[in-house]
Amino acid sequence: MLPHKVIGSKLHAAVRAVLPDADLAPVLVRPCPDPRFGDYQTAGLMGLAKQRKLNPRQVATDVRAHLELSELCEKIEIAGAGFLNFHLRPEAVARAVTEALTDDRLFLEPAVPPRTIVVDFSSPNVAKPMHVGHIRSTILGDCLARALRRLGHRVITDNHLGDWGTQFGMLLVGWKRELNRVALQTDPIAEMERLYQKTSAACKTDAAILEAARQELVKLQAGDAENLALWREMIALSQGQFDTIYGRLGVTFDHTLGESFYNPQLPGLVAELAAKGIARESDGAQAIFFDDIPSLKTTPALVRKSDGGFNYTTTDLATLAYRMATWQPDEVIYVTDGRQQLHFQQLFAAFRKWQPGHLGLKLAHVWFGSILGEDGKPFKTRSGETIKLADLLDEAEERALRVVTEKNPDLAEAARREIARVVGIGAVKYADLLPNRQSDYVFSWDKMLSLSGNTAPYLQYAYARIRSIFRKAAESAGGPPRPVPLQLRTAEETTLAKHLLNFGIVLEAVAEEYRPNYLCNYLYELAGHFTRFYEHCPVLKAAAAERASRLALCDAAGRVLRQGLEVLGIEVLEQM
Ligand code: ARG
Repeated sequence: MLPHKVIGSKLHAAVRAVLPDADLAPVLVRPCPDPRFGDYQTAGLMGLAKQRKLNPRQVATDVRAHLELSELCEKIEIAGAGFLNFHLRPEAVARAVTEALTDDRLFLEPAVPPRTIVVDFSSPNVAKPMHVGHIRSTILGDCLARALRRLGHRVITDNHLGDWGTQFGMLLVGWKRELNRVALQTDPIAEMERLYQKTSAACKTDAAILEAARQELVKLQAGDAENLALWREMIALSQGQFDTIYGRLGVTFDHTLGESFYNPQLPGLVAELAAKGIARESDGAQAIFFDDIPSLKTTPALVRKSDGGFNYTTTDLATLAYRMATWQPDEVIYVTDGRQQLHFQQLFAAFRKWQPGHLGLKLAHVWFGSILGEDGKPFKTRSGETIKLADLLDEAEERALRVVTEKNPDLAEAARREIARVVGIGAVKYADLLPNRQSDYVFSWDKMLSLSGNTAPYLQYAYARIRSIFRKAAESAGGPPRPVPLQLRTAEETTLAKHLLNFGIVLEAVAEEYRPNYLCNYLYELAGHFTRFYEHCPVLKAAAAERASRLALCDAAGRVLRQGLEVLGIEVLEQM
């Protein structure tokens, strides 16, 4: 068991001995914010003391008297208003790292009990290019799914494709009148976008075209065979292009159930909501009112329009009901931009009214801000168009290729291109995951591709450097080094080893608060601790026992770096 887990369970036993009726949930063991105060601390005793009007330092003193942790801790201090600070013994840290190295789970302990979690992310719209706004949903959602899986949860990813809606009326008109087959073959989404834009512009000035679009839509909704076949073709063409992008990003989904999948359920759903008094008529439409929720009082959610069409909320209610019935999740996470906050507040409130039985269900809208250009305005091409994801990834790889070529002019072209691919895509992902997701961030090629600073290339480079130590070690010793018990002799070794122990805590925080930036910063610090260790402590030139121990520490650092980057969806290279 990892030291902080041992401390946690002994701490709970000690609290129970002192305050038998205490709620132990807030008594958590967390890394100390400042290592000068110790390695771990608990702030939870102060709350317990306050509730009981006891002196918090006295409670801390009593709890400490019941703690037997001498094998693990060199001291336990009472600090401030009633914190307990735990200082680990270097031998205990060494033992924990040595033990972790024997298991591929490293510094993670499986989540008990594992939970079932649905992650709804990416969800682009058919016949439209994926733009940089969808990139954040794709990258963030994929990372959260990876983090939750790594922690041992049962994760179900679902790409809620926008494959239904009024845009198809216009697309069908455009397709039937203007389709350029050659253009469709070379770039289907671009051609569909052209058809859509042309028709939608014409609709603004030409009432006949608007009416034609309306009729095509009605025919599609009524199941007209020709229109259904064209609609299916549009979806398949879009899906092909989305898949190319997902392939480049290394993103996969367990399910891609688009909005259209839920169409058959919508009439019955609205009828049920009306019969139960959850929805009621309003100007010919059906709406759910939230009179009991102050923040939503003035914003009812439409579930059927006055023309009989259904709304985004209606489909999302049917979707959530389907997910509950099919997978019985404990949690459903939606990843979209911040402009959809009201929609999800309404959706969650409406679902609770409709299906009040799911008491333990956690519903989360994980939202994010926009990507800005270096001028601080929304990120666009020079001519003012929205940037397409495919072009963005191309440019990332091209720019990375220039950097790689400059560094390794003698490497074969294919090898340089592969490095550039891994570095370029990694850089784009990391730039997206590093900022607090709720703030807008400025997209900067130079910053994200830099080999120094908090970037993907820097971390990938740190990893490759660790791998090169092992190549050299194998050469000089005639084989890969054998694992041995660690001995931590210097401050640099101890700091690095202690940092490694917290990988699992950080990952849990990422999953708990849906914040991958915690992991980015953790890995950046890890690379820094590794650099300081490597600068101060000779590894290959050290005497045999020390050499083996330091190699084991390098191994642990390399594996955590690789696993951490894997959770971020970022590939590593053996050589850069
Ligand atoms: N297709 C939507 C968009 O591009 C995102 C869908 C998000 N998921 C959901 N269940 N509403 O904005």
